[in-house]
Amino acid sequence: MKVTVVGAGAVGASCAEYIAIKNFASEVVLLDIKEGYAEGKAMDLMQTASLNGFDTKITGVTNDYSKTANSDICVITSGIPRKPGMTREELIGINAGIVKSVSSSLIEHSPNTIIIVVSNPMDTMTYLVHQSTNLPKNRIIGMGGALDSARFKYRLAEALEAPISDVDGMVIGGHSDTGMVPLTSHATRNSIKVSEFLSEERLAQVAADTKVGGATLTKLLGTSAWYAPGAAVSGLVQAIACDQKKIYPCSTLLEGEYGLNDICIGVPVVLGRNGIEKIVDIPLSDAEKEHMKASAEGVRKTNGLLNVEA
Ligand code: LAC
Repeated sequence: MKVTVVGAGAVGASCAEYIAIKNFASEVVLLDIKEGYAEGKAMDLMQTASLNGFDTKITGVTNDYSKTANSDICVITSGIPRKPGMTREELIGINAGIVKSVSSSLIEHSPNTIIIVVSNPMDTMTYLVHQSTNLPKNRIIGMGGALDSARFKYRLAEALEAPISDVDGMVIGGHSDTGMVPLTSHATRNSIKVSEFLSEERLAQVAADTKVGGATLTKLLGTSAWYAPGAAVSGLVQAIACDQKKIYPCSTLLEGEYGLNDICIGVPVVLGRNGIEKIVDIPLSDAEKEHMKASAEGVRKTNGLLNVEA
């Protein structure tokens, strides 16, 4: 199993690290445009192998896509991250051009690859990969929901004063401060609905904190987060590589599911060796349906900027 991660910045390096630590891939190629940067990060990570007990071989390359040839999975993290006060949508001008050229270079050398898009605004970047390549829809996956759901579980555990392993929950919708739809009605603590333990107000606070999860970290760190994004990507990569058939919310092209068409947005999917193997339609409350509709409108608005920028 060969995995390429494009972009050796904090998010890309963190993806490579978590993939390697889980020890299921034979090879990870880290690619960056900055001379020597990916090589340095790869060497540093390889020097953790004996300490952390993994055999995955990590190599770094400077913009040499021939070294990515025959990758089973490619992760695109390249582009600029947001600075405090910026929305993910404001990154579109620069990131659209980068994602378009990176995906085309990747597919040239790995025509059978599955692509995972992390660059922001992620749902629109995922849609752009659909528009600009001829990969089938099961092989284009946007990573946002897995991260947002991890942040939701963190906030739920905090509110419940429970260990995170006791908590389950999912965030669907767009990967943006206003677009996320935390499914509070489905969230559970050890199979009991969280509404049994938390007031409506406290649950609303959990949802609000979840939605600004990325912005909160950007404000604290001065740039966007990397540990949880990297760990979330490694979860998707492992589900595909190990054919786990796990359910994760991912951004995928919808063709009627959830009443939506011609849009990439986060919904629960089954991930296995063929990428997105199934879109899982789950019942939403009326409020969640409304929220999802508004979220899709937001994503469409950002998609509208593609024709101008890309
Ligand atoms: C975040 C970025 C990766 O939410 O979108 O941290």
